[in-house]
Amino acid sequence: MFTLFSRKRKKKSVDLEFDESLEIPKHIAIIMDGNGRWAKKRKLPRIAGHKEGVNTVKKVAKAASKLGVKVLTLYAFSTENWQRPDSEVNFLMKLPVDFFDNFVPDLIKENVKVSVIGYIDELPKHTQKAVLQAIDKTKNNTGMILNFAFNYGSRAEILTATQKIAKKVAKGELKLDAITEETFSDVLMTGVFRKDVRDPEILIRSSGEERISNFLLWQIAYSELYFTDELWPDFDEHSLKKAIASYQKRNRRFGGI
Ligand code: FPP
Repeated sequence: MFTLFSRKRKKKSVDLEFDESLEIPKHIAIIMDGNGRWAKKRKLPRIAGHKEGVNTVKKVAKAASKLGVKVLTLYAFSTENWQRPDSEVNFLMKLPVDFFDNFVPDLIKENVKVSVIGYIDELPKHTQKAVLQAIDKTKNNTGMILNFAFNYGSRAEILTATQKIAKKVAKGELKLDAITEETFSDVLMTGVFRKDVRDPEILIRSSGEERISNFLLWQIAYSELYFTDELWPDFDEHSLKKAIASYQKRNRRFGGI
């Protein structure tokens, strides 16, 4: 049984009963919310919250990799986020450039492989380049997949997948009754991952909001949902373990008894 007992961390250790010998979710998905509110509380501009949010990404990615998580999917930019003011969108588009510039050596050291889901070709060139370079530089790594959802929207993903399936049917490559959950899952953006790690066992959302916000709608059909009031910049290794501890206590029945 893992418990945090250092005096300094005592407050945070309350209700943590994380057990490393129990199941660690293979795929964890996170909606990283609350950067703006974190900044507002400190009378800082919203972008300061996003900057701090990037540090959290580094901490959480390292912690997840250490725990043996196979895929960590982070919702970094949604297809709806373009509606934000230009200055904020521009800042968010620069984040991967700085992040990968600094963090790729660490990712290589940790054997982490970068991956991305989303409509990458619609991103500014400098953002695309940073993402594609990180994917290339880490492509031979065999450890955790750090998967960024960037310019991602689940309804759009499902429509794109449906079009792919329809094309196959129209060309006579696929029979109507051969369309199964598996063939559909194959053409989703997460279809590039091994079948046993495509769907997250747990979806975490920070900041107290309890919504899915167009994230992995197909893939979370049976996921455990975990909401925490912590704002994303305050989220850390301990918060992750707390979420996993909650997952470990749940009884997943997949519709059975
Ligand atoms: C939601 O918080 C957060 C985002 C839209 C951006 C999340 C991005 C990061 C945490 C950094 C991603 C890192 C990389 C490396 C790409 P919000 O701004 O909606 O917060 P609020 O609801 O408090 O206003």
